[in-house]
Amino acid sequence: MTLDVIGFGALNLDRLFQVNQIACKDEEGYIENLTESCGGSAANTIIGLSRLGLDTGVIGKIGSDMEGKTLRNNLSNEDVNTDGIIKSGEGRSGTVHGYVDRKGHRALYVDPGVNDKIDIREINLEYALNTKLLHLTSFVGESIKAQESLLENIPDQVMVSLDPGMIYVTKGIKSLEKILYKTDILLINQMELDILLSPLKDLDVKINTILNYGIKMLVMKQGKKGCLVTDGSKTHLLDAYKVDCHDTTGAGDAFNSGFIYGILEGKNIKESAMIGNFVASCCVQELGATTGLPLKSAVDKIR
Ligand SMILES: Nc1ncnc2c1ncn2[C@@H]1O[C@H](COP(=O)(O)OP(=O)(O)OP(=O)(O)O)[C@@H](O)[C@H]1O
Ligand SMILES: [Mg+2]
Repeated sequence: MTLDVIGFGALNLDRLFQVNQIACKDEEGYIENLTESCGGSAANTIIGLSRLGLDTGVIGKIGSDMEGKTLRNNLSNEDVNTDGIIKSGEGRSGTVHGYVDRKGHRALYVDPGVNDKIDIREINLEYALNTKLLHLTSFVGESIKAQESLLENIPDQVMVSLDPGMIYVTKGIKSLEKILYKTDILLINQMELDILLSPLKDLDVKINTILNYGIKMLVMKQGKKGCLVTDGSKTHLLDAYKVDCHDTTGAGDAFNSGFIYGILEGKNIKESAMIGNFVASCCVQELGATTGLPLKSAVDKIR
């Protein structure tokens, strides 16, 4: 079976502790509440695409622990194929521990766990390359090498999209070259693009520099302002939808779902970016990265 989209990135269980205070050195605080949710940028985008009716799968790594089970079950429940998930005999599944006090201040600790231990030899290439599009997001550590190796084997007809996030852009453009040369669609926010291409200042120069890597579509996400999308010959600036924003967690991942969906449905870059803005607007109206992600019927109504 050929899947429509496979996501390849870190899989994390997010634990958000509401605390009376964020304890500093030698201080003590207590936990008032705990909420758990499944995260990881690629997984969020893949869940969005599955809700939109596409056949989806994930490549990632989990430990043989409860967290790993929860991560896998969450994807299965969203109708995502999990055959590409590697289960490690040792090590912890990835977790993110967030502490939020009564004023909303946050402290975050990431435990990448086995996310950072993916070897290309563990990936079933037949599974990984039997897709219309491969969507890549970041890893903290060395698993970027497995992504690079996978791309060395990728057939021309498989499209590649990349959302590098802060983790990859801070590595610098040289470190990302191998991936960028294989990327068709770059989905990035404005600040990340500035960091990736610093010290360039002029937007046209930035766009040309990116397109010189062979990237066919560049989307620059601009938060509540919307986005810019270009293929080098046409550039569009699209306003975000005016909605009641409650939580922007996962807005960028939701945007990616909408944009990729549009492209795979044969829409042009402007139409696809509109769908991206729409899916992201559904996301920000609810709490959490995936709660508000819409179904195909809602998206097919937008004009
Ligand atoms: N307040 C808002 N109202 C409506 N839409 C929004 C709002 N904030 C963000 N969006 C939508 O979400 C999209 C992605 O947001 P943003 O530019 O913050 O991406 P990002 O920084 O990659 O997000 P993330 O922090 O999830 O990685 C925007 O292009 C826009 O469509
Ligand atoms: Mg982002």
